[in-house]
Amino acid sequence: MDLFRQNLRLEMVRPDFRGIPECPLPPGFSLRWFQSGDAAHWLRIHHDAEPFHEITPEVFNREFGCDFERLSHCQCYLQDVAGRVVGTGTAWPAGQCPDGSWGRVFWLAILRSYQGKGLGKPLLSAVCNRLQEQGHQRALVFTSTGRLPAVNLYLNHGFQPQIKTESDRAVWDRVFAALRESGRLREPAALLDACREPTRAGAGM
Ligand SMILES: CC(C)(COP(=O)(O)OP(=O)(O)OC[C@H]1O[C@@H](n2cnc3c(N)ncnc32)[C@H](O)[C@@H]1OP(=O)(O)O)[C@@H](O)C(=O)NCCC(=O)NCCS
Repeated sequence: MDLFRQNLRLEMVRPDFRGIPECPLPPGFSLRWFQSGDAAHWLRIHHDAEPFHEITPEVFNREFGCDFERLSHCQCYLQDVAGRVVGTGTAWPAGQCPDGSWGRVFWLAILRSYQGKGLGKPLLSAVCNRLQEQGHQRALVFTSTGRLPAVNLYLNHGFQPQIKTESDRAVWDRVFAALRESGRLREPAALLDACREPTRAGAGM
């Protein structure tokens, strides 16, 4: 069975926040943080972009609750030139790590018609910068083999595969083979360069 259909769970980690890539937004696009009414935008974006899970209002409630004051600090929205909300991502604590040092990149998505235009990179940088501002020292993200563009985005952003077992290694070998075959995998030197790009204070928000 292919990687997309299997959609195996992957964990990736960024051991620190050094060198968060500085990725300018295309002209006219802007980032802002959660405000009243944004839950509807979150649902619309994920309903369009999410390939595997059914997106319902219960998903938003389950994942984020209704502490909107909290969301105003950690849930990011991307707007196009006309003010249409086209992407979102959340800087969330990693609950499984009680010392608070780990933050989590959570529910990142761009509307399908806006994907592949360089919008995911600045959105991810904003989320990583916000995790650092919140006092986290490192980040993790859970993704899956059915989301190769996302996996590649995270790799290019300094996230590394979390390989704990031989089975993890075998899956990651297949992921890298698929990315190589797609011609979209950057060589390790380029990945390293991406990690060395300077951190932008404040991320322009
Ligand atoms: C992941 C996602 C947010 C990326 O958004 P995007 O706007 O398409 O991303 P960008 O155009 O900024 O591309 C960023 C990087 O993603 C990777 N990428 C994008 N499309 C890709 C593709 N078709 N194949 C492989 N890599 C791809 C590349 O690394 C690219 O960087 P590069 O162009 O310098 O090589 C978007 O694909 C999405 O919403 N997917 C559905 C929801 C989802 O699965 N989210 C992830 C949850 S863990």
